[in-house]
Amino acid sequence: MIQVEREEAVAIVTIDRQEALNALDVATLTELRDHLRKLADDDAARVVIMTGAGEKAFVAGADIKYMSGLDVDEAKEWGALGHEAGRLLETMPKPTIAAINGFALGGGCELAVACDIRYAASGAKLGQPEVNLGIIPGWGGTQRIARLCGLGVAKELIFTGRIVDAEEALRIGLVNAVHDPVLDKAREVGTLLASKSPIALRLMKELANRALAGDHARNLEAEGEAFGELFSSDDAKEGLAAFVEKREPKFVGS
Ligand code: CAA
Repeated sequence: MIQVEREEAVAIVTIDRQEALNALDVATLTELRDHLRKLADDDAARVVIMTGAGEKAFVAGADIKYMSGLDVDEAKEWGALGHEAGRLLETMPKPTIAAINGFALGGGCELAVACDIRYAASGAKLGQPEVNLGIIPGWGGTQRIARLCGLGVAKELIFTGRIVDAEEALRIGLVNAVHDPVLDKAREVGTLLASKSPIALRLMKELANRALAGDHARNLEAEGEAFGELFSSDDAKEGLAAFVEKREPKFVGS
């Protein structure tokens, strides 16, 4: 099951299927997708943190027992469901943070990589072991890891299925920082981001997501356009005025 808790404007989504190391079966992944859809549209949730229940796992992947019975069409549907969850994390108009508290393997690593920011506990283990099952990463792993770590590192990880520890994950850029307890770090940064202008964050996320795709010149033009348009917002006026008046800004999201 999926638990969603609110700590003011920060939503914490916990994947709880501990008997299978939080591996995602259809019911759990559908529930996760449904919660992510709601959070994407909920202006009161300014930041979304994703983590796994218990000490052992973030998510140990897609449920292998379930996948062992799939035919081609069912496997395509299963892939599409995971892709939708990943796309929501990557594109919802607010920051998403993965707090990786143990195994993040296969689909678990892929969902973490779809988030905007990743923090790992020192005991976390990450990787794409699909090759050992005779399959390939199916929820974004062949694409997003290359964008984070570079193509050479990504190919080595997905071809070998090698699992990396938190320190190596940090070194290769797969996570942003290693911290115990990891949820405290995600909360701290989540609370900080929730205090910023949600409009500025939304635009930065949208533009940053274009950074490694499409036409560079056009993307820069889009940045220039968004930068200018933003000056009509209350938050931009407030942030600039607060600096000039030597006080803390209060962003309202308009
Ligand atoms: N699917 C289904 N069940 C899983 C699972 C998974 N991905 N990962 C763990 N479990 C289950 C185990 O079957 C076991 O259940 P039982 O007690 O009923 O047998 C329980 O969780 C505990 O696991 P272990 O006893 O194996 O625990 P361990 O500490 O000895 O090993 C582990 C931990 C190394 C993570 C090992 O469980 C493992 O290798 N899991 C599979 C990891 C994996 O290959 N993930 C990728 C899946 S493919 C994928 O995700 C495709 C995609 O891109 C979408």
